[in-house]
Amino acid sequence: MSTLITNIGELVTNAPAGDPGPGAPGEPGGGPGEPGGGPGEFSVITGAAVVIDDGHIAWTGAAGRAPAADDIVDARGRAVLPGFVDSHAHLVFAGERGAEFAARMDGQPYAAGGIASTVAATRAASDVTLRAGLRRLADEMLGQGTTTYECKSGYGLTVRDEARSVMLAAEVTPEVTYLGAHVVPPEFDHDPAGYLDLVCGPMLDACAPDARWIDVFCEEGAFGADEAAAVLAAGRARGLLPRVHANQLGPGPGVRVAVGAGAASADHCTYLTSADVDLLASSRTVATLLPGVEFSCRQPYPDARRLLGAGVTVAIATDCNPGSCFTSSMALCVALAVREMGMTTQEAVWSATAGGALALRRADVGHLGVGARADLLMLEAPSHTYLAYRPGVPLTAAVWREGRLAAARPQVLAG
Ligand code: NIG
Ligand code: FE
Repeated sequence: MSTLITNIGELVTNAPAGDPGPGAPGEPGGGPGEPGGGPGEFSVITGAAVVIDDGHIAWTGAAGRAPAADDIVDARGRAVLPGFVDSHAHLVFAGERGAEFAARMDGQPYAAGGIASTVAATRAASDVTLRAGLRRLADEMLGQGTTTYECKSGYGLTVRDEARSVMLAAEVTPEVTYLGAHVVPPEFDHDPAGYLDLVCGPMLDACAPDARWIDVFCEEGAFGADEAAAVLAAGRARGLLPRVHANQLGPGPGVRVAVGAGAASADHCTYLTSADVDLLASSRTVATLLPGVEFSCRQPYPDARRLLGAGVTVAIATDCNPGSCFTSSMALCVALAVREMGMTTQEAVWSATAGGALALRRADVGHLGVGARADLLMLEAPSHTYLAYRPGVPLTAAVWREGRLAAARPQVLAG
């Protein structure tokens, strides 16, 4: 079953170098061609069409040259982009911390200590409650055009509660991250080394089968450089790939640990030294910026221009969690990145799609090259620019995930 989406005002492809690009099938430069090798530069086709076949992108190009398909959707000039890739989210938890947010807005600083209250609520919750909350957020994300998302554990912090957190996360996404090393839970206050042994031993054994990634909060008040490196090494030995919460609340060793461990991503990167920027620039580690956190904690934003100027690959993600940032909106994060971090609209949209894919080491999402997974977001707008130009406005017209329509406004379905 193939679908042609035509009359697209602006198709953001992020197509990889060497992708066939616009053109008719069989013509030079026409699809279908060989599957591309992952995201490329920000790129658009105006007056475009895309053909989806069997859950993948089969063709992109000028609408007038589009091949026939079983089904046709008329985009009526709307923009279409790759579904957002949210590479950093904490979705398995119970309870909420609205009062903590209100206190912050009344002048209290953000402190990682609030995590303990979510840990208590999560431990006390049933599987049914946790699953319902997780699914509600997962649906919320998909409805806003986020077609790939990462999901961390980290609010259980016992073997049983971390194991059920990764098990539940694996029900909704393959990008599951074991974050037993979020903070030292209160019952280990006097024995942090004992907690580290648990994280790197029995808890890891229980979580590794359901996880792809291992993460550690490397920060004053959480885990130091040596502890973080030990956690990542233990995870690696169990086949998990490293990523790090780094340099969120102040300067520190997080980025150095992340690059040293060959992490796919160092996340937050709010307080960086020149040495940190150089390390990131000389590595494959993506700097994942989380502007919703700075918004929700009233903190200074990371210096995206400095990172981009140094040649660092930048991703943007939500960090959706009940404490430091309770938004699932990639569109809000794009708008903040543009308005508050000096990114262009192209850079921000690239970082929220292709950048996120690189932060998850995924070649099949974040772009619309031939062979990519058919994950698309159609906007109720003619251009990607509107994500920042119309902040706070729900702009999702339709979402396809793996070629299947996952959400749509009635006027899109009416053609
Ligand atoms: O990414 N920094 C550590 N963890 C989360 C916050 C968790 C919380 O406050 O509940 C973050 O910001
Ligand atoms: Fe986080």
